[in-house]
Amino acid sequence: MMKPFRKKELETTYEIAPEHILEVKDLHVRIAVDDYDLHAVRGVNFSLKKGETLGLVGESGCGKSVTSKEILGINPGNCRSEGQILYRTKSGKVLNLLELDRDGTVYRAIRGAEISMIFQEPMTAFSPLYTIGNQLAEIITLHDPKATKASARQRVLEMLRKVGIANPEKRIDQYPHEFSGGMLQRALIAMMLCCDPDLLIADEPTTALDVTIQAQILDLMRSLQKEFGMSILFITHDLGTVANMCDNVAVMYLGEIVEYGTVRQIFHNPQHPYTRGLLRSLPKMDQVRDEKLYIINGVVPLPVGLQANCGFHDRCEECIAGRCDTQEIPEFEAEPGHMVRCIKLEKQEVHHG
Ligand SMILES: Nc1ncnc2c1ncn2[C@@H]1O[C@H](COP(=O)(O)OP(=O)(O)OP(=O)(O)O)[C@@H](O)[C@H]1O
Ligand SMILES: [Mg+2]
Repeated sequence: MMKPFRKKELETTYEIAPEHILEVKDLHVRIAVDDYDLHAVRGVNFSLKKGETLGLVGESGCGKSVTSKEILGINPGNCRSEGQILYRTKSGKVLNLLELDRDGTVYRAIRGAEISMIFQEPMTAFSPLYTIGNQLAEIITLHDPKATKASARQRVLEMLRKVGIANPEKRIDQYPHEFSGGMLQRALIAMMLCCDPDLLIADEPTTALDVTIQAQILDLMRSLQKEFGMSILFITHDLGTVANMCDNVAVMYLGEIVEYGTVRQIFHNPQHPYTRGLLRSLPKMDQVRDEKLYIINGVVPLPVGLQANCGFHDRCEECIAGRCDTQEIPEFEAEPGHMVRCIKLEKQEVHHG
């Protein structure tokens, strides 16, 4: 039976900027583990325009996946969220996804048909028991009840061809274990395309693949984005891939966005010591062979019992004792559209409206 909307959803109407498809506002996610609370996402704000690619970068444990899973409403039951995730549906209505029933029909229709996600491990997205063709055809018939068996098969062939799978007439009847990792990731992208989403969340989509295949998959995503016009939230710990893929970059540390700007601003004029550290730890073409790569000291702490201060202060080479460790750091504007959460930029403070 169809679950009814909660009353609040019917009464509240939301507005977002006309060019935006998504606005995440002051998002907090807390995870209850045993006796304590992990504050995994702490006041995250960002937006996505139609056709834009936003890179969400940061080391392991910064809160990238928890943030993206909250958009899809697929975080586990021990997570609680606050804030707003405003999303413009294909029909033009703006919904606050945090208010939707996660198991209700509306959210289920959005998941897949409007917002799709591709993961690091494509194998987990497929059942080993059915052929790739059958699994893709099922998605097509699910989204288009008028599709016949024959027309769905034609569509699957077309999609497999589009994502560069050679000999799709043979491949369509094969099982997932007969595909290599790179081919499976292509098949997963084909599956995503069958849904024609407006927003694609790609969480480390190429981390498990070797470098040449990685480059091919990224090329594929870029050309498909041009053709289909979708927006992409591209999540990675590797700043290197961001430069080629993204328009804008949000650098996350300990559940907060510490720097945000265009690819150009982040790569040519990085301001936060954390962003600079990430950039310094990238291998360079002219690196002397045995020269050690730069490594940021320490690790991302667990987000438990956090104080009002800069989350990065105890790893920061530029930390000002008595300031960075004792006060909450607001956002500063380094240049138009370039936001930095670091006390060094104290001159121009930015307030969210
Ligand atoms: N289901 C969970 N139960 C308990 N803690 C969790 C859970 N999921 C995430 N966390 C914690 O929340 C924080 C953020 O995790 P998240 O998975 O978002 O990191 P990430 O930035 O995606 O890292 P990675 O690059 O390793 O994927 C981490 O401290 C992590 O240990
Ligand atoms: Mg992750």
